[in-house]
Amino acid sequence: MQKVALVTGSVSGIGAATARRLAAEGMTVAVHSRSSRDAGVALAAELGGTYHQADLADDAAATDLVPSVLAEHGRLDVLVNNAGISWPVPHAELSSLTADDWRRLLDVNLIAPWLLCTAALPALRESGGCIVNVTSHAGVRPKGSSIGYAASKAALNHVTKLLAAALGPDVRVNAVAPGLVDTPMTADWTAAQELWKTSSPMRRAAQPSDVADLISAVIHNSYLTGEVILLDGGLNLR
Ligand SMILES: NC(=O)c1ccc[n+]([C@@H]2O[C@H](COP(=O)([O-])OP(=O)(O)OC[C@H]3O[C@@H](n4cnc5c(N)ncnc54)[C@H](OP(=O)(O)O)[C@@H]3O)[C@@H](O)[C@H]2O)c1
Repeated sequence: MQKVALVTGSVSGIGAATARRLAAEGMTVAVHSRSSRDAGVALAAELGGTYHQADLADDAAATDLVPSVLAEHGRLDVLVNNAGISWPVPHAELSSLTADDWRRLLDVNLIAPWLLCTAALPALRESGGCIVNVTSHAGVRPKGSSIGYAASKAALNHVTKLLAAALGPDVRVNAVAPGLVDTPMTADWTAAQELWKTSSPMRRAAQPSDVADLISAVIHNSYLTGEVILLDGGLNLR
């Protein structure tokens, strides 16, 4: 039976690379995005999967996403919680990060993955499946585009470990925590790009395919659970 993977936010960047990678490995991929519908439909057609549109800032839409995948495919083996939002806010400018900004970051980066895990759990138990949360190095070290973003990813890293402890051995739960990745999100983050070029041992930002490779390895390692795997080209060593 062909395995089915739902990759959220899979119309650009890390999510698209992951969708392509999992499809190339023989999985049926449910492609998802918030607004880029035409590109999502085209990618799903190219990969032989299905496209699902949902704004994950909306609790009801987030809760309905897994049932819409199950209605199409009848099973779920892999949930990759990749969709996320981030924008730069200098850490010392506290008033530039409003209560609404915090809610937006937590809604999309933390609460939506929780709702998706909740909705997916029965199907994942049935398939002996796994969850991969795409977090960030900003959730591991006191860094990142904003304090709200870093806190949302730190919380998701902790939720990853708590879920792994609660759901094993039926369902494995891990997080992949990238440093800087060349995606539309970071296209104009010139200071970070310079930092990675000059200071990281690998002397470059990651490509989306580097992250997809790690997500694939995590999915395929049947003993790995509760890990937050940093993928920052070694910047943390500096
Ligand atoms: N790029 C980096 O340097 C980096 C580093 C560490 C961690 N990460 C994390 O990696 C993940 C992917 O990042 P990326 O750089 O690949 O991002 P990206 O290219 O900006 O793509 C983000 C994807 O998420 C979707 N999305 C955004 N907000 C959404 C919402 N409210 N509801 C549903 N979908 C939504 C987008 O849909 P639309 O296409 O419709 O807008 C898009 O498909 C994020 O969780 C990010 O925090 C990225």
